[in-house]
This record gives sequence, C-alpha cells and structure tokens, in this order.
Amino acid sequence: MKIHNEKEGLQLLKDLKASKSLINHHELVVETVERTLDRLPSSIKHLIDRNLVLIGCSLHDIGKVRKSSEESNSGKDHELAGRNLLLSLGVSPKIARYCMIHSLPEEKLYLEELLVGIADNLWKGSRDLSKELCFYQKSTALLNRKDELLFKKLDDVFEQISDENFRSYKEYLKVNRVSV
Ligand SMILES: [Fe+2]
Repeated sequence: MKIHNEKEGLQLLKDLKASKSLINHHELVVETVERTLDRLPSSIKHLIDRNLVLIGCSLHDIGKVRKSSEESNSGKDHELAGRNLLLSLGVSPKIARYCMIHSLPEEKLYLEELLVGIADNLWKGSRDLSKELCFYQKSTALLNRKDELLFKKLDDVFEQISDENFRSYKEYLKVNRVSV
C-alpha cells in the first residue's frame, strides 16, 4: 500500500485498532512537527521533504500496536515490529525506516528522520539535543556553510515549541490517564 500523506498514516493506525492514546500521540507529534517546520529558517526548509516528515510522524510508533506493553513501559521491540509491519503491508522501505529512528545511528539518519526524532521529544516539552545538533550539522553541510546565527535560530525554534508543548503534554497525560 502507498501512504500519500499523514492523514492516511493516521488512518492506518485506526484501521489497525491502535489505542486512543497511541493515535493521540501520533496526532500530537504530527501537529508539533507542522509547527516546527513552519518556523524553520527558509534555507533549511528548502532542504526538507515536508510531506515525508509528516508521514514519518504519523507512523513512527505503529509497532506499539503489536507490542502494546511498550505503550506504557519503555522498550525498543516496537521499532523493528513497526518496520516489519509496514513492510508486510507493502509500505515503502523509505517510510518503514521511520519506525527505527531511535535505534539507527544518528549519522545515518536523513534530515527528515532527525526531525521526526526531534519532534518525538518536543511534543512532550523536552528536547533531544544530540539529534538537534546532528540536524544542524547535516543542514550546514548540505548548505555548504557553517553559520552560528543559524544554530541560534534553530535553538530558538526548538525551545519555543518545547515550551508551548509542555502544557498540552500535561493535558495528554490527564486525558489518557498515563502516569509518569
Ligand atoms: Fe513516539
């Protein structure tokens, strides 16, 4: 099957009977990355396939449908399970890779994949500084220039989004009765 956009990604989660909280998590990560993409400096925006980022956000934790214990407990089995699930449905390997973003070495991740990993932290008001730094380094390598100002701009965007999301994450915990 072909996934054309994030709506189809979210629909696939529903079709596979994902829990409400799992669907809600994906919706919030999609919404977070949309806001992040809108605020990125235009030089970086041009390097990124926006649609691919949105699709990646809409499906990255789909493996938790099969490994539901990892919805509330930590664990990485859902990553491979998600990748294999998508491949078994005929989804392209390029999209299936998004299930592995927390396991693959950062230097092997594309800008789009790094951004999904970054948003997977920002949605709850936290930051993955290691992925953010890698995102900056890869962007400047592609732009063929080092730029301190660009670093500051990215840092500001990530900090703003993280700040804004702190409140919505508390709401998510309340609605989904997740304890931390
Ligand atoms: Fe996630």
